[in-house]
Amino acid sequence: MIVFLIGFMGCGKTSIGRKVAAQASFRFVDMDREIEERCGMKVADIFQRHGEESFRRCEREFLENLAASEGDTIVSTGGGAPCHGENMELMNRLGRTVYLKMSPPKLVKRLEHGREKRPKIQGMDDERLLEYIFHTLPGREEYYGKAHFIIDCDGATDDYICRHIAGYLETE
Ligand code: S3P
Repeated sequence: MIVFLIGFMGCGKTSIGRKVAAQASFRFVDMDREIEERCGMKVADIFQRHGEESFRRCEREFLENLAASEGDTIVSTGGGAPCHGENMELMNRLGRTVYLKMSPPKLVKRLEHGREKRPKIQGMDDERLLEYIFHTLPGREEYYGKAHFIIDCDGATDDYICRHIAGYLETE
């Protein structure tokens, strides 16, 4: 089974993905890191040198290649991946999608140190970032909301979230 963790930048897809994978003995794959390895450059450089469209093509290719892979896998996706092309439908067909839902103020707090490597929010102060999230999240939630399973992560500990995901996987 392939499990895709989806959600806005900063919601914890990578850290939760690692933990759940270790607990459930699944392979863990981080989509952004895989793309960086394949392209030989950081996500921020792909955006800067080749543009966002090129990065979105890399995301699509990554998902198409996954279709051929085997074994139980947890994939932490990039925050924008489900919201481009038919990616959300593709992920829903390939496996199970889990949306880690988090409120804008909480996301801002969690993104305190992660802004420079993320081209969409580079250089933003708290106020601008909060505005950006309030503006962007509703459109993205139209896609995130199609997930098979949604977890409200506000105020939840990593352990609680991991247990919820593990419990869901047992029913699948
Ligand atoms: C993006 C999110 C990033 C990364 C890229 C674009 C987005 O991933 O894919 O910077 O459009 O939301 P994270 O959600 O892991 O930060």
